[in-house]
Amino acid sequence: MWFASPDEVRERLAAVDYLADDGITTSVFLAGALGKPLLTEGPAGVGKTQLAKAVAAATGARLIRLQCYEGLDEARALYEWNYKKQLLRIQADDDAWDDIFSEEFLLERPLLKAIRSDEPTVLLIDETDKADVEVEGLLLEILSDYQITIPELGTIVAARTPYVVLTSNATRELSEALKRRCLYLHLDYPTPERERDIVLAQVPGLPASIAEQLARTVAALRVLELKKSPSIAETIDWARTLLALGRTELDETVIGQTLGVVLKHNSDQARAAKELGLPARS
Ligand SMILES: Nc1ncnc2c1ncn2[C@@H]1O[C@H](COP(=O)(O)OP(=O)(O)OP(=O)(O)O)[C@@H](O)[C@H]1O
Ligand SMILES: [Mg+2]
Repeated sequence: MWFASPDEVRERLAAVDYLADDGITTSVFLAGALGKPLLTEGPAGVGKTQLAKAVAAATGARLIRLQCYEGLDEARALYEWNYKKQLLRIQADDDAWDDIFSEEFLLERPLLKAIRSDEPTVLLIDETDKADVEVEGLLLEILSDYQITIPELGTIVAARTPYVVLTSNATRELSEALKRRCLYLHLDYPTPERERDIVLAQVPGLPASIAEQLARTVAALRVLELKKSPSIAETIDWARTLLALGRTELDETVIGQTLGVVLKHNSDQARAAKELGLPARS
């Protein structure tokens, strides 16, 4: 049992400084209760990866992470045989052919490691949309039956069901087959109130009034439909910046001077300056 209720999710995540809204707590609770993978999708920097880390930290579970990228293959995701060691064994002993496909020569990769883990485990499959479509095929057996078949060794069934979190930036649609096996949670930018609380939790020493102003300013920037909207991570950076500068108030001059912390395109900065009526940059 991962969590007793959505309320417990909220409390335990808050204890590790992850502030969740009702949508998040319900999904996180259900994923644990139903033993289903949780697919979180949404823009950059809204807390998708952090959610998996927070679930692990809140429950004292081990975190195993599979980072997806173009070209990720079975050998990196699942397991591979240690060819070098196999070769050496065969060179030393002609009769070793039967032995070289055994535990001793198996190199565990994150998915196999998570399936075989006998302690509570959170498996984070991060940035799933960056992997090639074939990887999704690989995930299907694992995510529906929590088992992996290795031809030479047989089928390995999970000792205990891991808590699986998949993340995606939605740069491409994931397959329906994969989605069907998951609970889906769309993560978006938080309300200004929740973002203020997140910033306060993450940046000790920050005056509440600044956190409030930052959250409101960032929300105003997000409605401008910029090339790249500021993420929560960038709001936190902004808060740290102001603290480092010793500012206790956020006026137009400081906003203008530090806009590069949250907006990383010249055209976005120009747009924001115009819309927010900031003094011209020198
Ligand atoms: N609900 C939250 N409570 C506390 N901190 C949060 C929350 N959401 C996001 N954060 C903060 O924002 C940072 C960025 O989050 P994270 O790295 O999880 O984003 P992401 O959605 O995985 O982004 P990307 O798509 O770029 O990988 C985290 O390190 C964390 O400090
Ligand atoms: Mg991430």
